[in-house]
Amino acid sequence: MLILGLETSCDETACAVVEDGRRVRSSIVASQHDLHEKYAGVVPEIASRAHVERLSPVVAEALRAAGCGFEDLGAIAVGHRPGLIGSLLVGVAAAKALAWSVQVPLIGVDHVQAHLYAGLLDSDADPDRVFPALGLVVSGGHSSLYAMDSAIDMTRLGATIDDAVGEAYDKAATILGLGYPGGPALDALARTGDPTRFRLPISRLEPGSLNFSFSGLKTALLYQVRGTPGPGGAFARDSSDLSDADRRDFAAAFQHAAVESLMLKLQRALTRLREAAPVASLLVGGGVSANSLLRSRLGEFARHERLGLFLPPMAYCVDNAAMIAGLGSALFDAGRTADLHLAAVPTTAC
Ligand code: KG4
Ligand code: ZN
Repeated sequence: MLILGLETSCDETACAVVEDGRRVRSSIVASQHDLHEKYAGVVPEIASRAHVERLSPVVAEALRAAGCGFEDLGAIAVGHRPGLIGSLLVGVAAAKALAWSVQVPLIGVDHVQAHLYAGLLDSDADPDRVFPALGLVVSGGHSSLYAMDSAIDMTRLGATIDDAVGEAYDKAATILGLGYPGGPALDALARTGDPTRFRLPISRLEPGSLNFSFSGLKTALLYQVRGTPGPGGAFARDSSDLSDADRRDFAAAFQHAAVESLMLKLQRALTRLREAAPVASLLVGGGVSANSLLRSRLGEFARHERLGLFLPPMAYCVDNAAMIAGLGSALFDAGRTADLHLAAVPTTAC
C-alpha cells in the first residue's frame, strides 16, 4: 500500500510517498533555512506562511517522483505533533483535505516517534528482531531516550532538562561565527580540530540520571570564546577575534563534550534496561544523528554491546516526510487511524 506523508512541524515543508511502510518511492523536502538565517533561529509566523506557499508544489513533486497519483494512495499520514502550532496546522489542514477528497484514512503521527522509525526506512529488518529496542532522538527540538516495545509503543526514559542537543549545536555554531543552522558546519570543522586543546564539560547530571543537559556546555563555550561578561553583560572578546585554529579546536572540543555526554546516557540507559529484559537493538534518529562523530561512536557502542544499530541514511536524519509515512504505515496496520477531528498539538505524545 502507498501512504503519502506530510511534515510541516517546524521549518521544513516535506511530502513523501512510502510503499508498505519501508520502501521510499519519493521524499521531497523544501527547506526554509534561507528565510530564517538572518534571525539565527526559526521565526514561527514566517515558517507557517512559507508552509502555505510551498505545500502544494511539494505534494505535486512527491507524487510525480513516486510515479503515482492521488488515486493510488491508501492513506494520508501527517506529523500532527509536536512542533510550532501554526506550522503543524498547515500540514494537518492539508492532510484532512486530502484524506477527505481522496476518501482514504487519515493517520496522525508523532514527529519524535517518527524520527526513531527513520532508520528502518529502505531496510528489510524483521520487526521481531529489532524490538525490544533502546531509542535515542537527537534533534533541534528533542534529546530523549526511549524503551521501545515496537515502532509505535514506547516509554520515555529521559529527556533534556534545558536545550536540545541540536539547539546547542546551532548556538555553539553562532558563538563560533559559523552561520545557521550551524550543526553541519560545526561538525565539518570539528573533524579538522584538536579536541584536547580546550576543555569543555561533559554533562553527567546526578548518578543514574537518564536526562540530558546542554546549556552548561554552551555557556562554557561562550565564556571561553568571549571571556566572562563584565558589568552590564559586556564581553571582552568577539568570535571574530578567533584564529582559524582556535575555531577548529573549539568546534572539536564542543563536539567531543556533546557526543560523549550522549554516549554516557546511552550506556546508563542500556544497563538499566538490561537489568529487566534483553535489548535487541538501538534506534537513533533526528538531525544530530547525521553527526560524523556520533555515528562512529554509535557504531562502536553497538558492536561492543552486540546491538543491532538502526541509523537513518543521511537524507532521513533531518526532518522529512518519509519517516512520517513509514510510521504512519505501522500505525495503520495497528488500526490506529484518526478522523477529521485530528488536532495539531504542540507537545509530544511520548
Ligand atoms: O531533526 P531536525 O531536522 O529538526 C528537529 O526535529 O528539530 O534536526 C535539526 C537539527 C539542527 O539543530 C541541526 O543543526 C542539527 O539537527 N544537525 C546536526 C548535524 N546535521 C544537522 N548537528 C550536528 N551535526 C550534524 N552533522
Ligand atoms: Zn525533527
